[in-house]
Amino acid sequence: MSRIEWVRSNCRLLAAIASEFRDTLPFQGLTIGTGIHLEPKTVALLLALRDGGARVVATGNLNSTQADTVAYLRANDVEVVGATTTDEAEHDEHLRAVITARPDLLLDNGGDLFVRYLEAPYDALRGGTEETTSGRARLKPLAGALGVPVLVINDSPIKQFAENEHAVGQSVLESYMRITNQMTNGRAAAVFGYGACGKGVAANFRAAHALVAVVETDPVARLQASLDGFAVPSRADALRAADIVVTVTGAADVITEADLALIKDGAVLCNAGHFPREIAVAAIARSPQVTGTIPAGEGITTFRLADGRRFHLLTDGHMVNLAGPRPLGNSIESMDLGFALQARCLEAVANHAVGADHAVVPVPRAIDEAVANAFLEVYRGVRPEPRGERSEVPPQLIRE
Ligand SMILES: NC(=O)c1ccc[n+]([C@@H]2O[C@H](COP(=O)([O-])OP(=O)(O)OC[C@H]3O[C@@H](n4cnc5c(N)ncnc54)[C@H](O)[C@@H]3O)[C@@H](O)[C@H]2O)c1
Repeated sequence: MSRIEWVRSNCRLLAAIASEFRDTLPFQGLTIGTGIHLEPKTVALLLALRDGGARVVATGNLNSTQADTVAYLRANDVEVVGATTTDEAEHDEHLRAVITARPDLLLDNGGDLFVRYLEAPYDALRGGTEETTSGRARLKPLAGALGVPVLVINDSPIKQFAENEHAVGQSVLESYMRITNQMTNGRAAAVFGYGACGKGVAANFRAAHALVAVVETDPVARLQASLDGFAVPSRADALRAADIVVTVTGAADVITEADLALIKDGAVLCNAGHFPREIAVAAIARSPQVTGTIPAGEGITTFRLADGRRFHLLTDGHMVNLAGPRPLGNSIESMDLGFALQARCLEAVANHAVGADHAVVPVPRAIDEAVANAFLEVYRGVRPEPRGERSEVPPQLIRE
């Protein structure tokens, strides 16, 4: 079985949706344009859309397109535009080529497709989905101009706890152990950032018997970390004590050359935030305190300091769970959940179940509930509970 087949066969929620779509054909006669990572886990989603009757025109994101995934998709009637590229101008051409197909629905990642659609709008667009928070921020001011439903997957509570918290937490721990092969037991870990991802990272290192401290700039999140049982020392104390440092904030320059005096001899530093700028790698390497860097191979670089200390940086400060040797990223099942939300949201837009008043809003609660019930049924064999009076969602939890 190829890796792609293995991943596909584990996406059980999408397999059930694809089977239903082959009967209901929600996308019959429609073109869906997509701009998300083309890697094995995306295959199950794109083929479920194809099974629903869609012509799928897909391109990837910068630097993440995998050639075997492209070949597999092309062999299965998905029109893939372009190939792996790190060139922004070339990537821009690929995105424009998707829009040229005049898709009825867009599956966007970062707002790239919707923004290009707005440069030359056409009548057929019914709306679509946006995967990320950064895409929501980019598209929210354009909601009026878009005038079509755009459902933001990352704003679903399911995406937040299943993927950002549990799956990122697990895969960062898994990547740390796979790359370093060091034990975590009894070692001091400092997690910078206690958002959804940081919560998962801190919890997983604690579960691996590390002594975890959380460093947070937001007092409310810091309080939550404290009430969750983590130490919340000053950042200087946390850095001085840490054998393992993980940044996962979304901010730049979280660890800089100014911190070199604090870093413990033998510490391992890594980043799980989206951009490779949380640890200021280039500035650290240029610091006069750094006397040399030794690439230890397979994702580890050792920095030697003038006073004899050494510390180790994983995957050059790029996302540790997605860079480095054999990156696997989040668990298949967590992606299956997120992509099930994608498939159901696109179905709702195709069926006109949501309208222009849904321009750049979170996933509707009914879809979250349907996907939650489906996951429990498919993976756990648990039937949905009847919705009684007392289980009504309190108004403050209704997201729209
Ligand atoms: N590695 C992955 O697979 C993966 C997956 C999803 C998201 N991400 C990325 O992880 C990052 C965090 O995502 P999130 O959803 O937890 O974000 P979030 O906004 O919910 O949480 C970030 C937290 O970091 C804190 N913070 C900001 N600057 C800080 C600093 N200098 N020191 C300490 N704390 C600081 C903020 O107060 C906030 O509480 C983002 O860049 C996101 O894109 C990575």
